[in-house]
Amino acid sequence: MALEFASKVRRIPVYPAAEAYGLDGPVALMASNESPYPPIQAVQEAVARALGSLNRYPDPTNAALRGKLADRTGVPVNRIAVGNGSCDLLLAAGEALLEPGAELVHAWPAFSVYPHLAAASGARAIEVALTEDHRHDLGAMLREVTAATRLLIVCNPNNPTSTALPIEEIAAFVDAVPRHACVILDEAYIEFDMLQDPDESVALLDRHPNLVLLRTFSKVYGLCGLRAGYALCGSESFRIAVDQVRQPFSCNALAQAAALEALEHGDEVARRVERNLAERIGLEEGLRGFGIAPAESQANFVWFDLPDAEAEPGVLRGLSERGLLVRSGAALGREGALRVTVGAQAENERFLEALATLLR
Ligand SMILES: Cc1ncc(COP(=O)(O)O)c(C=O)c1O
Repeated sequence: MALEFASKVRRIPVYPAAEAYGLDGPVALMASNESPYPPIQAVQEAVARALGSLNRYPDPTNAALRGKLADRTGVPVNRIAVGNGSCDLLLAAGEALLEPGAELVHAWPAFSVYPHLAAASGARAIEVALTEDHRHDLGAMLREVTAATRLLIVCNPNNPTSTALPIEEIAAFVDAVPRHACVILDEAYIEFDMLQDPDESVALLDRHPNLVLLRTFSKVYGLCGLRAGYALCGSESFRIAVDQVRQPFSCNALAQAAALEALEHGDEVARRVERNLAERIGLEEGLRGFGIAPAESQANFVWFDLPDAEAEPGVLRGLSERGLLVRSGAALGREGALRVTVGAQAENERFLEALATLLR
């Protein structure tokens, strides 16, 4: 007899992970918005030092890391939650806020984990189409708010489309959302966003107890293999709720040590952002040379429609045969589009050369 699972197991979509892990040869991983640069040397050393105490559980309160985040951001410690990647906090938010009868509003296409929240909880998801220029339609999202809305998610900059909204528009949106509904501003890529200083959204927290900023060490800090993310919350109640629904030791000891050390290296992080920006501009210029108009990126990846939408499977196959892994737009809700993570210089050149051949 087959096992019987909860009905939500049939509803939860499978995460479209890159199929990179069995490939031989020099593979360029440009599918998961990772950093092409290895973790900062001092961070690697901090992880090595922490190895000797892995016989002990990690600090379940993440005290040192939350303390340092509080120093850096000005958000009180009791309003900071730490997770096993920011995804952990996102799923916990779904669990803590959603249930049958509740509603969730998010844009689409956006981060592929968002549909999981409604599927797992039985809440109703309202997916609001992006504007023509691939941005969140905040007005349309606001029009979907009802008494049943428990959560709105705004991904800024947006994955997969790379676009960002200026902080003024975000601020006006959060002002207009009624206080009973939580707003998660998913800022996984905020350090790459040239339209705003990451502190500008932090400043909104004091006025909005229903606002949560979700951030991560996965992207600009190059630590996605370890899993550490955090939430800066407008009120303590969100932090308490997400702690309640998760296992007590969600952020492991190595991740805590690495994140703590990473926060000491703001200069190196800024240099990486600059390098990434220069490489991204090169990629965008290359694409324009093929007659492609990429979306206006404020992130470490680019998003564009191929000249011929039907060419997508062939282009993906051709890239993959050349050891270049990028993300299919079809898998993210838009046939004929590609999402390409900015790689190291040689990878970006390889990608452009390969694409030139495949488009011919
Ligand atoms: C928009 C967005 N949010 C959250 C995450 C999750 O990041 P992590 O769980 O690695 O912190 C990602 C990862 O790709 C993302 O693109």
